[in-house]
Amino acid sequence: MSPQAHVTGWGKYVPQRVLTNNDLAQMVETSDEWITTRTGIAERRIAADDESTSSMAIKAAQKALSVANLNPTQIDLIIVATATPDHAFPSTACLVQDALGATHAAAFDLSAGCSGFVYGLSVAAGLIEAGQYENVLIIGAETLSRITDWDDRATCVLFGDGAGAVILHGNAAEGGVLSGTLGADGSGGELLCVPAGGCKRPPSHETVAEGMHYLTMKGREVFRFAVRIMPSATRKVLEMADLTIEDIDLIVPHQANQRIIASSARSLNLTPERVYSNVARYGNTSAASVPIALCEAVDEGYVHQGDVLVLVGFGAGLTWAATALQWSAPLPTDPQSRTKAVWYKVLYRYAKVRSWIRSLVRKIAAQFTKFRQ
Ligand code: UT7
Repeated sequence: MSPQAHVTGWGKYVPQRVLTNNDLAQMVETSDEWITTRTGIAERRIAADDESTSSMAIKAAQKALSVANLNPTQIDLIIVATATPDHAFPSTACLVQDALGATHAAAFDLSAGCSGFVYGLSVAAGLIEAGQYENVLIIGAETLSRITDWDDRATCVLFGDGAGAVILHGNAAEGGVLSGTLGADGSGGELLCVPAGGCKRPPSHETVAEGMHYLTMKGREVFRFAVRIMPSATRKVLEMADLTIEDIDLIVPHQANQRIIASSARSLNLTPERVYSNVARYGNTSAASVPIALCEAVDEGYVHQGDVLVLVGFGAGLTWAATALQWSAPLPTDPQSRTKAVWYKVLYRYAKVRSWIRSLVRKIAAQFTKFRQ
């Protein structure tokens, strides 16, 4: 029997700084009333100057590893889903791999907009089921505040920063990831887009002056796409797992807009208690939204062992993805002991020192080669 992919660890990180609707009303022509009624968002988190997608991803990953009781060297693969990587390259996943000291892990970034984390779950589950990997760390992390035009009221009220991570572990037990579906429609690419900064329109004085390095969105069209695709992706993933709507204990949807979440729940005939939402607190954190929501749903007691969950997302691309899974991790989790906390601290310190030594050795070797030439 091929192994099943089970969630054994989860963790989130959100920056300290809270930006409320009233704060935004001081910056652009908007109001708390407009934002709340049109989106359900009350506040969002904004990364500090010294934070970035990798730093938030690392913190979320460290929590997930601690819940899973996993040593970083036991991770086989790290996937970071993000639209706001630290650099074009190296990948954010490689930065995470180095900081964790995950010396046996392969690492890559996954670009699928807000669907990225759910895409990553399917990819990881497939590799686990094929027997290629045993432990995969999947992270959704974003610093959208750095690509937001803070003068554009149509977009700046929607987005926030944060990270969420999950460990998938392969074993023969029943449950875990039951099915997954992925989709794309590139004809809708221009609906959600950062027009410049890539190789088609490299950054220049002109692109920056025109604000082409900021996120642009055709909100109404994305809305129409979202309310159609969320229910259909959910139905498809249930059908693939031989389940029905009645079998779902909780849906964790992409947190873009409370109206989209409510509309999807209505078309699936689901009562609000079976659809998790925290969009009010964090806004749309793109690829980070589903894992952050999953962590909070677990921490708030909405998830129980044996529950059937559907995680579903949509976003830039256009893309969409859904995963059905049966929760197998014991709940509640053990509180982290002092010894365990100290042990992980030592591991991460060691990872830092190891990385520094390796880079120093590389520099010395380069000097030595130059000297010999
Ligand atoms: O992760 C995936 C990414 N994106 C999404 O999921 C977004 C999907 N779309 C949406 O959530 C909604 O379309 C929005 C929340 C973005 C906009 O809501 P809407 O009900 O579709 O509003 P609208 O764009 O049709 O704009 C209605 C009015 C316009 O004024 P006029 O032309 O009717 O006079 C806008 O200029 O609201 C105006 N408006 C605002 N007013 C106050 C737009 N943004 C604001 C604002 N404050 N922040």
